[in-house]
Amino acid sequence: MKETIKRTILLLSIATILITYLSVFYLMKLEIILTDNLFQINNIIILLIIFAVVLTLASVLSKMIIFPLKKLEKNMKSVIDGKALETKHLKGYNKFKEIDELIDIYSTMMEVIKKNNFDLNSQKSKTEIILEQMADGVIAFSVTKDVVHINKSAINLLGISKEYDDFDKIIKKLSLQLEFDQIMYLPNYKNIEYKVIINENVLNLIFVPFFSDKLIPMGIIMVVRNVTESVRLDNMRKEFVANVSHELKTPLTSIKGYSETMMRVDLTGAEISEFARVINQEANRMDRLVADLLQLSKFDYSKASWKKTTFSLSDLANTVTEKMKYSASQKEHIVKCEVIVPTKVYADKDSIEQVIMNIVSNSIKYTPDGGNIMLYVGTVNNSAYIKIIDNGMGISEKDLQRIFERFYRVDKARSRQMGGTGLGLAIVKEIVDGNGGNIDIKSEIDKGTEIIITLPVK
Ligand SMILES: Nc1ncnc2c1ncn2[C@@H]1O[C@H](COP(=O)(O)OP(=O)(O)OP(=O)(O)O)[C@@H](O)[C@H]1O
Ligand SMILES: [Mg+2]
Repeated sequence: MKETIKRTILLLSIATILITYLSVFYLMKLEIILTDNLFQINNIIILLIIFAVVLTLASVLSKMIIFPLKKLEKNMKSVIDGKALETKHLKGYNKFKEIDELIDIYSTMMEVIKKNNFDLNSQKSKTEIILEQMADGVIAFSVTKDVVHINKSAINLLGISKEYDDFDKIIKKLSLQLEFDQIMYLPNYKNIEYKVIINENVLNLIFVPFFSDKLIPMGIIMVVRNVTESVRLDNMRKEFVANVSHELKTPLTSIKGYSETMMRVDLTGAEISEFARVINQEANRMDRLVADLLQLSKFDYSKASWKKTTFSLSDLANTVTEKMKYSASQKEHIVKCEVIVPTKVYADKDSIEQVIMNIVSNSIKYTPDGGNIMLYVGTVNNSAYIKIIDNGMGISEKDLQRIFERFYRVDKARSRQMGGTGLGLAIVKEIVDGNGGNIDIKSEIDKGTEIIITLPVK
């Protein structure tokens, strides 16, 4: 722009000199200027006047051209410096159509750039927000292996700091045997996946090469996904299938063995009735297991229909206590129910009875003979509660965390020997949750266990 202005000034100066020269030549022809002595006072005055007029005209002309151009230049510079674009005032200083058109084109061009810039910036900030808010970690590496973008989740999941700013450092930290080019030049531009364990999290790492429109390698995107929960669920599912098969296989083996023996003809009547008793016992066990599984499957598919009514929890606790007294007496336990505050609850009565029976029967099973089992009923924070306390063998802290899992038993052999399937507490938890209640368990090895259930009053 400066060069153009300089050139315009130069041209105008030359034009001034030329016009002055031509004017002198013309005036000489008209004999207004005397040729014999050009340096006469009159001639000098006329010449000076001509020069002044032409100079004034030239400078006015140059100002008319240069001023808007200068303004345009200033405007462009301020746009380059990142200031807001303002072209409206440019046109006011100008008298030439061509410059007006130039300013118009410039304004239109700047408006388009401004709009594109805005679109680009909003797109960029949208992408950045999405990347930052993503639960998955994302790292973008350039072809020079540098980290060009890394989001918060990637930093947290991989447990890395700012020093991990290139591909090799990150790969080394993950203890992977992986080369940058190995991913960049994958056949069919596919991706590579790895599983690593970092800070007790199972992470799925996906590496994808990315290219420009003309298939020029641009870099690699690495996605970090925390799959700990799905791995855990997958393991639980496998464990569940293994448990069901095992639980069914054990009584089936007995039934098969005893029934085969019974087919022998040389058995006494007493032997036959003993074998039939065992077969019946094992069949009952299988029946219980299948019933429990069916009940759990109803909860899983939300098919459990609760017949909620308002009933007295204190009365129900007393009834269950009476019902359980016989089996408790078999182990010389004392079972008592104490109603602190008589209270009603709004829940499915039969299911809640099943819950209390389940917990009390656990207390009976897992308390050495001659134990004390207490049931308390009362109210707390606008809810009703029932507390079942025993002074039995207790549960360790580690086992407590998994106690509501299906088939989880502290001592498998002992539980099985007592006819347990390990599904009791899992069912209890589902029933309590389904009735809008809450269950909490505290326990100490060799001291006893306390289970507290709160239920809605209305
Ligand atoms: N009161 C308790 N004292 C000590 N351990 C307990 C008590 N209640 C439960 N447990 C432990 O928790 C495990 C899970 O209990 P849960 O009621 O789910 O299964 P189970 O009693 O073994 O079988 P099920 O109830 O299906 O017949 C039990 O195997 C036992 O090890
Ligand atoms: Mg049980």
